Amino acid sequence: MERDMPEELLYEGKAKKLFITEDPQILRVEYKDDATAFNGQKFDRLKDKGLLNNAITVFFFEHLETKDIPSHFVRKISETEQLVRRVKIIPLEVVVRNVAAGSLSKRIGWEEGKELPHPIVEFYYKDDDLGDPLLAEEHIRLLELASEAQIEELKKRGLAVNEALESLMLSKEIRLIDFKLEFGLDQKGEILLADEISPDTCRFWDIESGKILDKDRFRRDLGGVTEAYLEIHQRLTEEIT
Ligand code: TMP
Ligand code: ASP
Repeated sequence: MERDMPEELLYEGKAKKLFITEDPQILRVEYKDDATAFNGQKFDRLKDKGLLNNAITVFFFEHLETKDIPSHFVRKISETEQLVRRVKIIPLEVVVRNVAAGSLSKRIGWEEGKELPHPIVEFYYKDDDLGDPLLAEEHIRLLELASEAQIEELKKRGLAVNEALESLMLSKEIRLIDFKLEFGLDQKGEILLADEISPDTCRFWDIESGKILDKDRFRRDLGGVTEAYLEIHQRLTEEIT
């Protein structure tokens, strides 16, 4: 893509790069093919992962918009890039779970695949040096990461996203096990859903076979990572007749 002016790299994360644009309120996000796990200790480059996560995230943000859940998403500008509104990221990972898996299974001893009686919301501290630890609400208050009202709003938004995505995925014969969201504050201090929603940040299991269709294929060395992401993309975009 040709551009008149070179754009400044604002931030490079593990899976995305963020660039300043001519509009101070708008950033350009470029999705990379890099895959990391365990705080960057495990690394690989997976062809087409960037374009698949860009497309899948766009699909989810556009779907959430129709359910009146606002996000930072503005528009897709290329296979691997999208424009987003600039927000100040709240340093919390908001994890919503429907089914026991991953760190919840380890923490409370429930087998992976056990349905929870109701969805739960957890907060993790976005801090690589600390290894993104689970936070109790008292810790969030101590660290002054979010106000009381913001904590309640984050829980409410997380559950609303869950309701929208769980039924969408069910219609694609996929079980939404859990997922991680990030939120930011816009200029007016309003909370906006930000970051990405993709197989990097969600657990998706095929409803019939239980086949894992997300980043756990990479984390657990199961192989077929890109194929799984492609399968998610195809199921989301195919017309069911
Ligand atoms: P966990 O079971 O490992 O805590 O993961 C819960 C959900 O959060 C799962 O859908 C994967 C997602 N996740 C991220 O997006 N980034 C992370 O760094 C981690 C650890 C999990
Ligand atoms: N994205 C995180 C990391 O690199 C972890 C993960 O998704 O499992 O390291």
